[in-house]
This record gives sequence, structure tokens and C-alpha cells, in this order.
Amino acid sequence: MHFMNVLIVGYGNMGKEIEKILAERNHRVVARIDPVASDADAVALTAGVTKGADTAIEFSLASGVLQNAYFYSKAGIRAVVGTTGWADKLAEVKALFDGGGAFIHGSNFSIGAHLFIGLAQAASAVISNLPQYDIMMYEIHHKNKKDSPSGTALETAARILKANKNKKRIVTERLDRRPEPDELHVASVRGGAEPGQHCVIIDSIADTVEIRHRARSRAGFALGAVLAAEWLQKKQGFFTVEDFMIDIGIKGATP
Ligand SMILES: NC(=O)c1ccc[n+]([C@@H]2O[C@H](COP(=O)([O-])OP(=O)(O)OC[C@H]3O[C@@H](n4cnc5c(N)ncnc54)[C@H](O)[C@@H]3O)[C@@H](O)[C@H]2O)c1
Repeated sequence: MHFMNVLIVGYGNMGKEIEKILAERNHRVVARIDPVASDADAVALTAGVTKGADTAIEFSLASGVLQNAYFYSKAGIRAVVGTTGWADKLAEVKALFDGGGAFIHGSNFSIGAHLFIGLAQAASAVISNLPQYDIMMYEIHHKNKKDSPSGTALETAARILKANKNKKRIVTERLDRRPEPDELHVASVRGGAEPGQHCVIIDSIADTVEIRHRARSRAGFALGAVLAAEWLQKKQGFFTVEDFMIDIGIKGATP
């Protein structure tokens, strides 16, 4: 295996998980970058502090993603970005890697979560021709999560819609009415320390089938991000986490 020299960008909960997985897999941490964390090595990316790094793994805040991506593209550093909430900057970031470099991003780097999404999509395709069955979903996350529904819930919902001819729209708000037959209802619950739970329910008068992914900790996200960084070593271009998952065999089901 090619050993990586890594910058940990964002030294919060995920940055610390990433550090553990890098150590287990014998990669070297060049520096930990974080404007706030007191145990980081530097507050910002600079040529001096990033010297010797070939790869960055970033789980930080959306506000810094574009500026950091600009740095990676100029410095020729491969980047894995798990930060969420910067869809409005996607085109600008992508353009930075048109001429070279390697960048992969995604709102969920957990391999198990992608297996879940693939299974949900396959089940949605099957019930497309079974009018007895309806489909819906909910997700639960800890009390500090700032957005809802989760990126993973929205991705799962989009894949359910893609596979099912009866469902045309996602509704995430509280319903003070009956749902329309073409609506997929996605509910969010917030509280406690839950690292992330997603459940798709397929329901008929006779029975219920549940497909559930439940993260036990952040370790699964961190492992997926480090594996994606290893995968990226031989690549050039702009990728999503789905490209990586498909490449390692988690294809999901396309109807
Ligand atoms: N893609 C995934 O699989 C996945 C999994 C978990 C969390 N996330 C996302 O990752 C991000 C971080 O999550 P977390 O739980 O570690 O949050 P956290 O708040 O514990 O850590 C984020 C850290 O980033 C730092 N930071 C802010 N701006 C920065 C910048 N410009 N450069 C470097 N560091 C900066 C903050 O000071 C903080 O220490 C969030 O957007 C979260 O939604 C993604």
C-alpha cells in the first residue's frame, strides 16, 4: 500500500477519529489544522505547515471549504472532504480541479450507510409494481446536529424516488393533512447522543419491512474517509463518495 502523508483539516470530533484510523493504517500525520482547537498544530493552511503532505482529509465547517480547496489545487494536495452544507459552492470547487489534481467529497463516508442506501433503492424498485406496499422514512441524530433532514436521508430519499414510479416528491415538513400517494415522507428527530440512525419502512396492511442503518460511533465515517483517501492516490479528477463506493462494489440497485 502507498503510505500517505496527511493533513487533518478540522480537528474536531471527526478529525480526531480520522487520526486514530490513520495511525492504525500506518499513515503519517503531517499537521492538524484548526482555527479553534487548542491541540491543533496550526490555525490555517500555509505552505510552511503543509510541507511534505500529499493528502488532506477535511471534516470542518462549510464556510472554509472553498478557500481550502483553492489551497489544495494550487499545492497539488489530494483532498477528501466530508464537510457538509456547501452545495452552493460545488460548481466553484469543481472548477478548481478541472485542470488536474484529485478531490473527493460526500456527505456520508460510511460504507454501511451506502450499503443501506443501495438496499433501500432496490426495495423501492421492487414495490414499484406492488400497490399493496407504501414506503416512508425517518432519521434520528444527536442534539448538536445543525441541519435536518440529514444529507444521508436526502440521498436515500432521492434514490427511493429514482427507483419508484409512484413516488414523485419528498416532503420533510410536519404534515397536518394526509400525505399524497406520490409523496415520500421523511421525518427527522433530534436529541441525545445518537450518532446517526436512518430507517426506511415498507408497509402494507399485512406486514412491515424495515431497512435500518445505525451508526454506533463516528469510526465508520472515519474509516470510509481514509479508505477513500487511499483510493484517491491513483486517481485524477473530481469525484463523489458514490464513485468510490461503486468502485469497491457497493453499487446500489438501478431499476
Ligand atoms: N461525510 C461524512 O461521512 C460525515 C460524518 C460526520 C460528520 N460530517 C460533517 O463533518 C463536519 C465536521 O463534523 P464534526 O462532528 O467533526 O464537527 P466538529 O464541530 O466537532 O469539528 C469541526 C472542526 O472544524 C474546525 N474548523 C472550522 N473552520 C475550519 C477551517 N476553515 N479549517 C479547518 N478547520 C476548521 C472547527 O474549529 C472544529 O474544531 C460537519 O460538516 C459534519 O456534518 C460528515
